[in-house]
Amino acid sequence: MKSKKHLPLTFYSVAVLLIGACKPTSATAQTTAVTTVSTSVEEKMYRPNFHFTPKKGWMNDPNGMFYANGYYHLFYQHYPDGNKWGPMHWGHAISKDLIKWEEQPIAIYPNKDKFIFSGSAVVDTNNSSGLGTGKTAPIVAIYTLHDMTKEKENKIDVEQQDIAFSNDNGFTWQKFDEGNPVIKNPGIRDFRDPKATWDETHKQWIMVLAAQDRSQFYKSKNLKNWEYISDFGKNIGAHGGVWECPDFFEIKVQGTNETKWVLIQSLNPGGANGGSGTQYFIGDFDGKTFTLDANFTKKVEQEKAVWIDYGKDNYAGVTWNNVPSADGRRLFIGWMSNWDYAQDVPTTVWRSATTIAREIQLVKKGNDYSLVSNPVKEINKYVSKTIKGKNLKGKGKLSIPEAGKIDLTQAIVNFNVKNLKQDTYTFTLSNATGESLSFGLNNSDHYLFLDRSKAGKNDFSEKFASTITKALVDGNQKEGVFKIILDKTSIEIFYNNGEKVITEIFFTNQPFTSLSVSSNEGIELSNIVINQLNIN
Ligand code: FRU
Repeated sequence: MKSKKHLPLTFYSVAVLLIGACKPTSATAQTTAVTTVSTSVEEKMYRPNFHFTPKKGWMNDPNGMFYANGYYHLFYQHYPDGNKWGPMHWGHAISKDLIKWEEQPIAIYPNKDKFIFSGSAVVDTNNSSGLGTGKTAPIVAIYTLHDMTKEKENKIDVEQQDIAFSNDNGFTWQKFDEGNPVIKNPGIRDFRDPKATWDETHKQWIMVLAAQDRSQFYKSKNLKNWEYISDFGKNIGAHGGVWECPDFFEIKVQGTNETKWVLIQSLNPGGANGGSGTQYFIGDFDGKTFTLDANFTKKVEQEKAVWIDYGKDNYAGVTWNNVPSADGRRLFIGWMSNWDYAQDVPTTVWRSATTIAREIQLVKKGNDYSLVSNPVKEINKYVSKTIKGKNLKGKGKLSIPEAGKIDLTQAIVNFNVKNLKQDTYTFTLSNATGESLSFGLNNSDHYLFLDRSKAGKNDFSEKFASTITKALVDGNQKEGVFKIILDKTSIEIFYNNGEKVITEIFFTNQPFTSLSVSSNEGIELSNIVINQLNIN
């Protein structure tokens, strides 16, 4: 949240510019006054076809996700009255399939200078909180209340954890005024983003929150009284910036009954390729203490950090609570932007989108555990046309002609690079104006890369396209398997069934219409399958 620290000023100046006067920031400021020029062009060019965006206003982190009564709920850090970060509300959207989202009225409003920061929500099935009225299980949201007045006065105890509850399956919310805060500030300036979950193994509510340079764990019987139990992470993993938005859950190793615990931990700055990024840790939890797996410790030491996504645009992602056990998936969504430039990207009506929802799995190879992420299978429902490409073999630049027959602003592109050599395979999406986005595999130095420096507008921020994104890969593999999800302004690359992921946004002046590949030694492409999506 680096740049937001100075935000009161930024917010007020933007508000003045946009709406002519400082609007009240309280719960009563419900109308939106974001106006803009040529919004139709921006809607057409940049409003994603299927990644969630708020109709208007600013969005950052996903919050409070849970499943109940047929809907996946997604809340998010939202400032409906401006297109930069400002007084934080919890916006709300619902979906039956994690792909098509319907925006709902604001869920939780700030109160004057007390902003509603990131947090989580649980379905309190047995009404352990006593906040239920008896008809449906209460949903309890736990979030950080951030006091802007204290922030301006340079106080330490700026952040505390509060709860709100819903007795209609998450559609309307009431703050728990008589009981807040449920966790007072213990004298730590950055003390936020509680993620609460039911810990079935130890039969307790647990909560992880970010405390500056570590995560702290708490437990509770009733979601109202929380006891601090331990912390994790000081001097472990990446620490280039403040830790934010953790998540903590137990997950089965694919294909076994063994379970491990995963800590997801965002930080800003200090991400894999600059700015905001999300690392993860795998270990064990005895109900009190999280202990890193021994081999994972080695991996963290070697690689400095292990990232859930190596792209610049997947931040503050966390997972859904209460996904039915018959489904059993661990479902994740991230904010598809980066604090380095999120407030400057060239949209005005809204700013930011979420990533595609992903399923996270834990895999074990030998004694090494790692996470893989892949787009949720529900995306396949929206495939309206499939073109299978001919295998391609040759040197120099080759066109993948099937891609030209598909609207690449909503598509899934799959292919395998066979018989990998010590070579660089560069794939290029391009359009008639000469804009291009390149990605691929450097199999001499063993990394994936993505370069958006020629992919349209990038002068709004020096940090946006000044470096090529890289993700190290295993050098011993014979084949590289690519699955790529394309929307108007985003690319999500899932490599080798989600072993490595790169998510980035771009702002071309025209859609991409072709895809080519180039190599020096020659390339063999197989399993070319291009899916047209139709999600509107
Ligand atoms: C992460 C973050 C959180 C905070 C929220 C405020 O992007 O900085 O730590 O709760 O954004 O909007």
